[in-house]
Amino acid sequence: MPRDSYGRDIHYLRISLTDKCNMRCVYCMSEDMVFQPTEDLMTTAEILRLVNLFARLGIDKIRLTGGEPSIHPDLIPIVRGIHAAGITRSSMTTNGLHLADLAQPLKEAGLERVNVSVDTLDPERFHRVTRWGHLDKVLAGIDAAEAAGLTPLKINAVVARGFNEADVVELARLTLTYPWQVRFIEMMPFGDVAGFAQSATISQAEIMQRIEAELGPLHPIDEARLDGEARLYRLDGARAAVGFISTVTNPFCASCSRVRLTADGHLRLCLLRDDEGDLLTPLRRGATDDQLEALIRNLIWRKPWGHGLPDGVIPLDRLMSQIGG
Ligand code: 5AD
Ligand code: SF4
Repeated sequence: MPRDSYGRDIHYLRISLTDKCNMRCVYCMSEDMVFQPTEDLMTTAEILRLVNLFARLGIDKIRLTGGEPSIHPDLIPIVRGIHAAGITRSSMTTNGLHLADLAQPLKEAGLERVNVSVDTLDPERFHRVTRWGHLDKVLAGIDAAEAAGLTPLKINAVVARGFNEADVVELARLTLTYPWQVRFIEMMPFGDVAGFAQSATISQAEIMQRIEAELGPLHPIDEARLDGEARLYRLDGARAAVGFISTVTNPFCASCSRVRLTADGHLRLCLLRDDEGDLLTPLRRGATDDQLEALIRNLIWRKPWGHGLPDGVIPLDRLMSQIGG
């Protein structure tokens, strides 16, 4: 398993399949967003060659992200290829718009589970936040994912002041009825939407207060120690946890075990740092598996520690949609 210079074992790879999306969430991209040209992005064969190399290196968990991964025309063959590479812990973060049709084929191709992004349960506000999204389709997608066994299902919500801060209560209430972990994600500043992210951020404390005022106490699970990237709490009588992913104010760098492959084939070492290395150019120039493996190991070794937001260092080279969260 590759290790970085701080002794962290890196065994989790997130792959952004495309920077394109069929929604336009206000905190993520503008409505006239310009995407990367297709020829700059990895082909399916290139993705699967790298997947096999990462598997050989000891990566045992892969998450597909975007943009929106489900709009990739080869999503199912890619999932099948990941499974064939021996990686059984595979998941996808999706906006859920296509999930009603894709859940069953995804499960059959070997995908283990999904996370679905839902920022509000109010159809009009959902449309306002996502601009192009439709809540009914996403909810149908969640039902299909549950029926197909893409479980345990997790719901991700980004909370933005002026858009959905009052909706955290109804989202948290889901855990009383359904076995879905509901996680509130702190907004992170990227590129030209950084200003919005920084002005509309809501603290974990405020979200907790709003939930507790309506639904009663949130009890810390395991002293709210980190479970992956989330701190977990539970409402009385709930079937699943409420989680907080507070990357900006409470980073989980010490337990970070992940790196990210961007759709244009760069290995991004930290979500919030622009430090990355190009794998696609050497691959296209004919690098051997051994050469690529050495390159990946060297890149992982220099994975940074800690984001620079407190010092005013905002990642500028890419947007969230080009990294995949
Ligand atoms: N900060 C935090 N989360 C974000 N997402 C998109 N943009 C941001 C941002 N600036 C979330 C999406 C989705 C996941 C892939 O990342 O809502 O849940
Ligand atoms: Fe698309 Fe996700 Fe960005 Fe929304 S947050 S526009 S669903 S990539």
